[in-house]
Amino acid sequence: MKYLVANWKANKNLEETKQWLEVFVRGYQAKENVSVIIAPPFPFLQAVKDVAKGLINVHVSAQDISQFEEGSRTGEVTAKSLLGIAEYTIIGHSERRINFNETNETISQKIEMAHEHQIETILCIQDLEDKSTEDSEFIAYEPTEAIGTGNNLSLNDILQFKSNLTLGNSKFLYGGSVTDNNINKYLHSDQIDGLLIGGASLDAESFLRIVSQT
Ligand code: PGA
Repeated sequence: MKYLVANWKANKNLEETKQWLEVFVRGYQAKENVSVIIAPPFPFLQAVKDVAKGLINVHVSAQDISQFEEGSRTGEVTAKSLLGIAEYTIIGHSERRINFNETNETISQKIEMAHEHQIETILCIQDLEDKSTEDSEFIAYEPTEAIGTGNNLSLNDILQFKSNLTLGNSKFLYGGSVTDNNINKYLHSDQIDGLLIGGASLDAESFLRIVSQT
């Protein structure tokens, strides 16, 4: 199975989400060995879920969750609150580590919280010092210099990094400037279980071109 994660980051409003979904549903052709995971901003998780449940191999992910269980935490979105909506969550994206001061400790707490509520985790790491990796279902290698820059890493560099990781049972993803023009080289390696796609997932047509090549 190859996993394609569409990380919309802090993009789109409800209308744009609906338009994306409309185009996606029209063009999507399910494949037995491809799992599509869409990670919209929190307000649009339910809209994506409503569409995803009618499609084969399309799933919903949060982009982050709270490290807290529930209670007096104004503004937080807990793992518990995502029950029935998101099956996955991204954790520890570099944009959160850098801009929101997420530490390996909070990241560990988030992973624990997700697992308590049966949410699978997609843990992003930038280097080998980031959180030890055994307890996440997915490890996404996302070197910051490759994110949003057009400087996607070569397959060799990715595999070199992977060879230094202790992966356990975790699946290995790569993310960083993946587009429909460069995805092929990654897809054909059985060392890479999938890809995390930011910019190229924002346009439904472009994301569909990625899915269709998989
Ligand atoms: P990008 O983002 O595809 O726009 O480089 C990937 C990510 O940060 O998840």
